[in-house]
Amino acid sequence: MVPDDAEAVSALRRATFSYSVMSPASTRHLIEVHSPAERFLGLVAISGRDLVAWGATGLNTWTSEEGQAGVSIYVHPEHRRQGIADALAKPLHDHLAEVGAVRARTFAEPGGVEFAKRFGYDGTRQMHYSGVDPRVLPPRPPAPEGIELVTMDTLDARQAYTADAVATLDEPSDSPADAIDYDDWVREVWESPALDKSLGVAAMAGDEVAAFSAIETDGDRAWSAMTGSIPAYRGRGLAKLAKWEALRRCADAGIVGAFTSNDDENGPMLAVNNWLGYRRVQTQTGLLRTL
Ligand SMILES: CC(C)(COP(=O)(O)OP(=O)(O)OC[C@H]1O[C@@H](n2cnc3c(N)ncnc32)[C@H](O)[C@@H]1OP(=O)(O)O)[C@@H](O)C(=O)NCCC(=O)NCCS
Repeated sequence: MVPDDAEAVSALRRATFSYSVMSPASTRHLIEVHSPAERFLGLVAISGRDLVAWGATGLNTWTSEEGQAGVSIYVHPEHRRQGIADALAKPLHDHLAEVGAVRARTFAEPGGVEFAKRFGYDGTRQMHYSGVDPRVLPPRPPAPEGIELVTMDTLDARQAYTADAVATLDEPSDSPADAIDYDDWVREVWESPALDKSLGVAAMAGDEVAAFSAIETDGDRAWSAMTGSIPAYRGRGLAKLAKWEALRRCADAGIVGAFTSNDDENGPMLAVNNWLGYRRVQTQTGLLRTL
């Protein structure tokens, strides 16, 4: 995989996952920007002139647990059942053995679960993908006293990082996200061309980010990169308020579809999204393999 594959990978991703929102620019960023400790390997499959599949793997450097890896493989719907995923899986897993990974995690749509199980993956974690038209929202909730809403482009990176790192600790996952390096976070998240800081919104308690809702865009579609509230401010409607405001800004900016993903165990975030009117479009299964 090379950076110039970005446009084709972005199109492949959209053809494979209707709910995916990843612009060519953010795909290029994803291909180019990795910390060396991740030992990232990205592969693509080419048929004639067409890029028809993607395979990637790397170590999870955001957790204190050693050797946790992720694997992702997807093949264009019109090029399936030709052994392409098999051909990608072998070098990806060989690479994981070389870099000392002890456990790999993958997510599969219903049609891909059996394929993953053939490689020794197992599990039933459910990740729900859902979407909403941001032009149609419930009435705006009131802002609690002492809370001011600002767009994320008014934050400095350290303020945003602190809120993101603290909130992410409580996001359900197989490995705790307890080792997010600030410089890596700035390069990978804050400087990503996907992030539209003029649409993302933070609820401020003085100088502190109490809650935020970050937005990535691709044309007229948006992806909720992360919504979080820091623990001391939870249960006061701040996630609802910040995300409502971010979606309203999206609608004003011409966005007609906003998408997100939530773990089935994330009751509070599912409650926020249900209230906003999100409707489920797909559920992926999370599976793990001990290496
Ligand atoms: C999810 C999160 C952002 C919610 O923040 P918050 O500011 O407390 O959210 P709000 O107060 O605006 O709304 C929370 C809603 O969840 C509901 N809720 C709380 N705990 C719940 C639970 N265990 N199960 C179901 N609903 C729950 C609340 O009742 C409330 O809904 P209501 O207003 O209809 O009663 C916060 O818990 C968080 O930061 N979690 C960790 C990060 C994360 O997982 N982010 C989402 C990643 S996809």
